[in-house]
Amino acid sequence: MSELIVALDVSSTAAVEEAVDRLGDAVSFYKIGLELFSAEGPAVVKAVKERGKKVFLDLKLHDIPRTVERAVKSAGALRVDLMTIHASGGKAMIRAAKDAALTFGAAAPKILAVTLLTSLDQSDLDDLGVGRAVADQVRALGTLAVANGADGIVCSPKEVAAMRVALGPDALLVTPGVRPAGAAVGDQKRVATPAQAVRDGSTHLVVGRPILQAEDPYAAALAILAEMKER
Ligand code: C5P
Repeated sequence: MSELIVALDVSSTAAVEEAVDRLGDAVSFYKIGLELFSAEGPAVVKAVKERGKKVFLDLKLHDIPRTVERAVKSAGALRVDLMTIHASGGKAMIRAAKDAALTFGAAAPKILAVTLLTSLDQSDLDDLGVGRAVADQVRALGTLAVANGADGIVCSPKEVAAMRVALGPDALLVTPGVRPAGAAVGDQKRVATPAQAVRDGSTHLVVGRPILQAEDPYAAALAILAEMKER
């Protein structure tokens, strides 16, 4: 069963509390990103966890292994459920993140790797001296991450089917860029419907504006959950 994660792209803990309370029992998983965490810190994670919800802390860690290990330990102490690192940090960094997560036993946060930011294209890869095509780089970094202990990757709905084949049945595939049938696409370029994403093998769908900016966020969340079951 795929899970719905609502991206809390708001700027204060008060706005988070209002959104989480409004969505009530419809949503049990929330994403906290760099902007919100930089503004509000661990308090915002605690506010969501105190409401009995799961937290995806999306900080995209990329540093020397020892620093990433310590950051994962700090996040694990906040009882986050999912967190992100950059696969391009390399094998030792990925392993360090996973080993730190495992110290929390049954409560270990799952480690997701970001392969290539979707803001980068082929010319950026060329500038960086990466001599691979975008799709090959995404597959290579995803494979490297999972081979070194990552639980899965973040990827676009357009990459999900190929990454499911490349990474096998157990990898978590977390996909933003999901839009309910007929919804505004906004600045998302590579979108898919919830049913399509689930069908292609996505384990977690990350949805922000289509829910939080809806006139009735609760109804919007229920509609997306229903679409996820239509697979
Ligand atoms: O509002 P929307 O549904 O587009 O929000 C999707 C969330 O996923 C946002 O928090 C956004 O930053 C994140 N994300 C994304 N596309 C990526 C990576 C992350 O939309 N390629």
